[in-house]
Amino acid sequence: MNAAKEEIKKEIERLRKEIERHNYLYYVKNSPEISDYEYDMLYKRLEQLERENPEFITPYSPTQRVGSDLTKEFKPVIHKFPMLSLANTYNREELYAFDKRVREALGVERVDYVTELKIDGLSVELYYKNGLLETASTRGDGITGEDITPNIKTIRSVPLAIDYKKIDKYDLSEIYVRGEVFMSKKEFERINRERAERGEKLFANPRNSASGTLKLQDPRIVAQRKLDIFVYYLLSEKEKFHSQYENLKMLEELGFKVNPNYRLCIGIDEVLEYCAYWEERRNSLDYEIDGVVIKVNSIAWQEKLGAVAKSPRWAVSYKFKAVGAITKINKIVWQVGRTGVVTPVAELEPVFLMGSTISRATLHNYDEIKRKDIRENDYALIEKGGDVIPKVVKVFPEKREPNSKPTQPPTHCPVCGSPLYFPDDEVGIYCENPECPAQIKGSIEHFASRGAMDIEGLGEAIVSLFVDLGFLKNYADIYELKNHADELKKIEGFGSKSVENLLSAIEESKNRPFEKVLYALGIRYVGDGTAKILAKRFGNLDALMNASEEELEQAPNIGPSIAKSVKRFFTNEKNLRIIERLRNYGLKFEIEKQEENPNIFEGKSFVLTGTLPSMTRDEAKALIEKYGGKAVSSVSKKTDFVLAGEKAGSKLEKAKKLGVKIISEDEFLEMIGGK
Ligand code: IVH
Repeated sequence: MNAAKEEIKKEIERLRKEIERHNYLYYVKNSPEISDYEYDMLYKRLEQLERENPEFITPYSPTQRVGSDLTKEFKPVIHKFPMLSLANTYNREELYAFDKRVREALGVERVDYVTELKIDGLSVELYYKNGLLETASTRGDGITGEDITPNIKTIRSVPLAIDYKKIDKYDLSEIYVRGEVFMSKKEFERINRERAERGEKLFANPRNSASGTLKLQDPRIVAQRKLDIFVYYLLSEKEKFHSQYENLKMLEELGFKVNPNYRLCIGIDEVLEYCAYWEERRNSLDYEIDGVVIKVNSIAWQEKLGAVAKSPRWAVSYKFKAVGAITKINKIVWQVGRTGVVTPVAELEPVFLMGSTISRATLHNYDEIKRKDIRENDYALIEKGGDVIPKVVKVFPEKREPNSKPTQPPTHCPVCGSPLYFPDDEVGIYCENPECPAQIKGSIEHFASRGAMDIEGLGEAIVSLFVDLGFLKNYADIYELKNHADELKKIEGFGSKSVENLLSAIEESKNRPFEKVLYALGIRYVGDGTAKILAKRFGNLDALMNASEEELEQAPNIGPSIAKSVKRFFTNEKNLRIIERLRNYGLKFEIEKQEENPNIFEGKSFVLTGTLPSMTRDEAKALIEKYGGKAVSSVSKKTDFVLAGEKAGSKLEKAKKLGVKIISEDEFLEMIGGK
């Protein structure tokens, strides 16, 4: 290697260390030292150097966290140490009994335990050889799991490399680290919001969402759904460790993310204290826990105790009680959300549950009411699960009055009285009146919001005020506000300067591109991403309005629910009138010409391999050429992109070796803007 190359290699290595250190500070320690921008700069620099010098790419580079290879199948991994599960206990007595069994088996007076939160996720095993993450696997049946290394590498809190020599007490050159992969409540909600927007089925809870994500075959999608990990178990064939407590400390020291709430308990009474403490506070965390894990601290004692059948004798889990109460449902009311969705809510005889008085519980939708046969005046079991909103678990039909009748769904909007819409293939019920008072404020706020028309000064409070004062009845009225300038200036606390600023922000918003206007309309299931796709695909509003459901479904990522919702929106008379007004005010109803760049692929070469999900090779080739690129048959260092589908073979391998950028059909379509 010549001196210049040597320098580059050093630079690459330095950048990798630096980036992983910032990953650690951000994802494990929650205390970043640099801004996102500075981080991106480091990352981009590394990406560039690796692209120019592909011979230096290793699987442990931070750029390889989001691998480009589609996992065809998950290969089996046989666990060196079986992954056992735990026996459950549910109360103090069972915990005392566990402690007694342990003390008697060991013949000692007192045993010390480490208590940890039981994270509700999926257990995984990480195998590190000479400090490098070799394999990550699922638990499987405890004996054989599945190799999910590419997906685990997307989790930034999982170190790809560790400084195993840092600890001189033990030889850590080959270790197995076990932990729980989970999804935060926040991320779970974000993903479900997006899925709802696309009309996809929702995940029931963060655990299902995490497990669904880990099983995805495309690590790039896994990377977008931010999974996280807490590790709790260290194993090695080479070493006998001293204690669980010391192991957790060591794992922290090596840069792993260990849940900080573990405790060394001197005797079982402290264990009980810990369990009670966390049972009270389980809802205060941003991830779900379903109990506490109690482990004998001494590893020598753990070994002495051994295991029975599928669980160790040295550890047990304490499961939190699902906290519930029985009360009466006084009334079932139907609420109209800001998007027009009508949902049932149970008004309850107030009952005290986990620190607060509860007088309402969500019933989700009419299907749920039918399924559980929930009726007014029923007695119901109310539970507060991991989440904050209480729910009705079941009712007691035997306690019902004889004249009780099954609950019927409403036929008209409880707020504005217009007839409700029941889509055939969905559980939702909708009020479609754009001027329904329950929706006015929400839809105007959305219209003016940052991601939509971005009208500065027209936030929640002002919208609410203007609606209450009668200036706004729908979002088109925003553009009439200028005719009320004098009246607006008289509103208390609203000087003439702020009115002028607002009016000029409103005028300025007329420059927003078509896709923003489309998003601002607030069509159900049309989020900003979908609006972009539709805008690019149809080019202008008239074409979109005239498109049939079938034509809509032909656009990338547009499913039947979105297509139906779009079609329905544009057949609603009131919507059409509002749209006509917007057109007359001069909002942009078509994409701008320079937005289209027909030669985006000029000078770029593509290699196609494998089967693409929605198009033939010829179609893909035609698209590449349409945008100025060329499709070639074999991969070389000069190839710009390899467009890979299912069952991609040697070309994909070659591309990986050469460090050529590999893209999926989705990414390809993204590049050409969903055309
Ligand atoms: S220790 C032999 N510690 O709970 C030791 N497990 O029912 C086995 N879990 O499969 C695991 N948090 O998926 C341990 N702090 C923790 C845990 C934990 C969650 C899960 C794990 C395991 C299951 C046992």
